[in-house]
Amino acid sequence: MLDKVEALIAKLIDEVEYTKANELFAKLLGGKRLRARLILTIAPEAPTAPLLGAIVELIHAASLLHDDVIDESQLRRGVPSVNATEGSKTAIMLGDILYSKAFSELTSFDPAISRSIADSVTKLSVGEMMDVEMVTEFNSDRDLYLKMLYLKTATLIEACAYSAAVLAQKDAFAHATYGKNLGLAFQIVDDILDITADEKTLGKPSLNDFVEGKTTLPYIDLYESLDENGKKRLIENHAQVLNEEEKGWIHTQMARHSIIERSYGYARALCDEALEAIGEDAALRAIIETVIQRSH
Ligand code: IPE
Ligand code: IPE
Ligand code: MG
Ligand code: MG
Repeated sequence: MLDKVEALIAKLIDEVEYTKANELFAKLLGGKRLRARLILTIAPEAPTAPLLGAIVELIHAASLLHDDVIDESQLRRGVPSVNATEGSKTAIMLGDILYSKAFSELTSFDPAISRSIADSVTKLSVGEMMDVEMVTEFNSDRDLYLKMLYLKTATLIEACAYSAAVLAQKDAFAHATYGKNLGLAFQIVDDILDITADEKTLGKPSLNDFVEGKTTLPYIDLYESLDENGKKRLIENHAQVLNEEEKGWIHTQMARHSIIERSYGYARALCDEALEAIGEDAALRAIIETVIQRSH
C-alpha cells in the first residue's frame, strides 16, 4: 500500500511540470512516512487513502524544507538539505510548490477532511513561529513548551488520524485523540534522541537542540531537579556552543536525576492515552511501538 503512496507522490510532483522540482524532490525521498502509514492503517479499504497519504507527505516535506531554512540545518533525511545545497530561496519556493500542490489536491476530498488538514498546517506554522520565539531565553514553562509542541508536530498527525477515520467511517474524534497523543509522544522522543543518540545516527551534533536555544522537555525536567547552582549553570549554557566539559556535565546531571527515563515515561503515558482512546487495535499499537522505540 505504501508503494501506491510513493507512486502518487511521484505523479503529483510530475504534475508540477517543472523538472527542477523533480530533481530537488529526489533529495527528500528518505522519510519514514509515518503520516501516510497512519492514514493507510486507519483506512486500509478506502480508495482515496493512498492519495491522502501522498498529499500529507507533500505537506510534511514542505514543512521540513521551511524548517531547515528556519533552523539553518545542513542535513535532512541523511543528506545535505536543499537550503544547504541550493540556498534558502530555492528551499522556500520548493516548499511553497509542495504546499500549494497539496492544497489543490485536497479540494477533491470531503470538506471535513480538507479543512482539518489545512487547519493543521496553520497550527503547524504558528508552532514553528513559537519555537523560534522561544529560543531567545531559557524556557522553564512546561505548559508553554507542550503547547508549542502540539502545534508544531502533533496537529498534522492528529489531522491525519481524524481524516483517515472520516474516510473509513470510523470514530473520527477517538482517532483524533489517538493522533494527537501519538504526535506529542513522537516529538518528545525526537527531543530525547537529540540528547541520547550518537551524532552519526542522528546526522547532527549532540545536544544540538540546547545549543540552538531549544529548552525541550528533558531540560525543563532537569532544571526543576537541580539546586540553585545547577540551575544557574544550566541557564548559562543555554544557546551556547558547548565544550566537552559542559556537555559531560549536562549528561551526568541528566543521568543523576533520571531525566531521560522520566521523559520516556511521559511519552509512554501519552501513548497509553492514545491507545485508550481507540480501544484495542493491534496495527495502531504497532505504530505506537515504532514511535517509542525508534532510534533516529
Ligand atoms: C521530522 O519528522 C520532524 C518532526 C516533526 C520531528 P519525521 O521524523 O516524521 O521525518 P521523516 O519524514 O521521517 O523524515
Ligand atoms: C520539525 O521541527 C519541523 C516541523 C514540525 C514542522 P524540528 O526543527 O523540531 O525538527 P527537526 O529536528 O528539524 O527534524
Ligand atoms: Mg529543525
Ligand atoms: Mg525547527
